[in-house]
Amino acid sequence: MVRINACVFISGKGSNLKAIFKSSINDNFPIQIKLLVTSNMNADGIKFAKKADIPYVYFKNNNFLNELKILKLIKQHKISIILLAGYMKILSKNFIKAFGKKIINIHPSLLPKYKGLNTYRRILKDNEKKSGCTVHYVNEKLDSGKIILKKIFYVSKNDNFLSLKKKTQKIEHLAYSQAIIKILKR
Ligand code: GRF
Repeated sequence: MVRINACVFISGKGSNLKAIFKSSINDNFPIQIKLLVTSNMNADGIKFAKKADIPYVYFKNNNFLNELKILKLIKQHKISIILLAGYMKILSKNFIKAFGKKIINIHPSLLPKYKGLNTYRRILKDNEKKSGCTVHYVNEKLDSGKIILKKIFYVSKNDNFLSLKKKTQKIEHLAYSQAIIKILKR
């Protein structure tokens, strides 16, 4: 099976990066992580990348020049898919167009509900009965690209910020790999 090269973009903990990497140990998984882009030099995800031997590059922000540099690196590493996993920057329209291939993201809510930041706080404030995560394609509008898959769970009345985050991330770690398989496996 021909596996395509992926680049993961992170800004923080990198737990989704780890989950995707674990899936990619299986030869039947359709991607291999060949590059990591981080906007945060102190991201825990970098420690993992070092251990896992994934080359990484740091760009504090993605201004025009940095996006050009990222595009160049992506070309050098023959990257065919970009996976955003807790990347706290917004990719420009030009970058998305210039890359011209699949870019996907994971969001900690049932989109189209709760786009943007502070998701858990808003879900709890609204007393939502259900929550979950969504893997979607990235377009120029925030958290608005075509949905690939969603996973749902019930929010209990005892849930707080931390428990909601924990439940969400647990299903995210399954959802991201399943979404990759869904869009790439023949
Ligand atoms: C995830 O919950 C994801 O939904 C959001 O950012 C978080 C990243 O977590 N976009 P991690 O860095 O993968 O642990």
